[in-house]
Amino acid sequence: MKIAAGAAGARIVGIGEHRPSRIVTNEEICKQIDSSDEWIRERSGIVTRRYAAPDESVVDMATSAASKALASSGVEPADVDLVLLATCSHPFQTPGGSSQVQDRIGATHAGAMDINAACAGFSYALSVASDAVRSGSARHVVVVGSEKMTDFIDPHDRGMAFLFGDGAGAVVVSASDTPGIGPVVWGSDGAQAETITQRPTYIEVQHALATGQPLEPVALRMAGQTVFRWAVTKMGPAAQKALDLAGVRADELGAFVPHQANLRIVESLVKTLKLPSSVVVARDIETQGNTSSASIPLALSALLQGGQVQSGQPALFIGFGAGLTYAAQVVEIP
Ligand code: UT7
Repeated sequence: MKIAAGAAGARIVGIGEHRPSRIVTNEEICKQIDSSDEWIRERSGIVTRRYAAPDESVVDMATSAASKALASSGVEPADVDLVLLATCSHPFQTPGGSSQVQDRIGATHAGAMDINAACAGFSYALSVASDAVRSGSARHVVVVGSEKMTDFIDPHDRGMAFLFGDGAGAVVVSASDTPGIGPVVWGSDGAQAETITQRPTYIEVQHALATGQPLEPVALRMAGQTVFRWAVTKMGPAAQKALDLAGVRADELGAFVPHQANLRIVESLVKTLKLPSSVVVARDIETQGNTSSASIPLALSALLQGGQVQSGQPALFIGFGAGLTYAAQVVEIP
């Protein structure tokens, strides 16, 4: 049997974003929960978030972000070999959304697959893309994180309603002579699966419909404090390991782009990693909320648009969330 000839390295060559137009303030959220702008800012750092329009889907947002990423990369859609859609809020068990994104962006020769690792999904998909390119399975891969979290959030849930937003971020990963995506550090703690989980399940919905029992709205539930403690204790060592594997020191980083779950988690990780003030830290959560698998590419895109980081600098990514799952890697900024 022959082995496919892979590339020496893989790197991000383009980036695109889609931020829905509707901006939602803390005051608006507090019409449905007993809370305050002050509490939300202090406990999460969130000032505003964006909500998709009723007819704006995960696939629509992913298509928009992916098309922009392709345009910025100069890669022709027909040359894309694989489309990976990281999402946990595509509202269909089957089919996944990636095939529709593949069709709509004109990636006529590409395979397509959804990846659900919740808020860690983008980092997982990025690693799969890098491995596909280096193994010779693909030359160009579109990686999108797209979420319409508002379809799965109960607006009356005091612990969840203020946290989440909608949006999509995408990158193009291509073959390169030198590595631009470092080794991934990934892990999972399925014993804590119940800490962030969707209720009711599809089967519970079917049962309620069949028996006429009352039906709760489908929504995510979270043991916030437990997840918070897990994130601030376990994500620092995982991120440090990604730096070590890439051979990059914290003071060599251009940017730290962690999943935007809570500004207090971001600041805690900055301390744990002893990041010097020269490292730009993504704080997109302030205006975007938690967009799950879209948060890392959206946050990097904001830093690039704001001129806060430069192409070629190393950036540290770490995604973490339901599962529980996490994944971290160092990348070269496109
Ligand atoms: O993206 C996937 C991963 N997700 C995460 O990483 C999220 C991790 N968790 C968090 O970010 C935080 O746990 C939250 C922001 C969700 C909540 O913040 P917290 O500091 O953990 O709040 P808490 O649940 O410990 O509640 C503290 C207090 C309680 O009152 P008492 O018992 O101290 O009197 C709550 O009843 O705050 C109260 N509270 C609220 N007060 C005003 C809870 N929710 C609210 C609210 N407004 N919305």
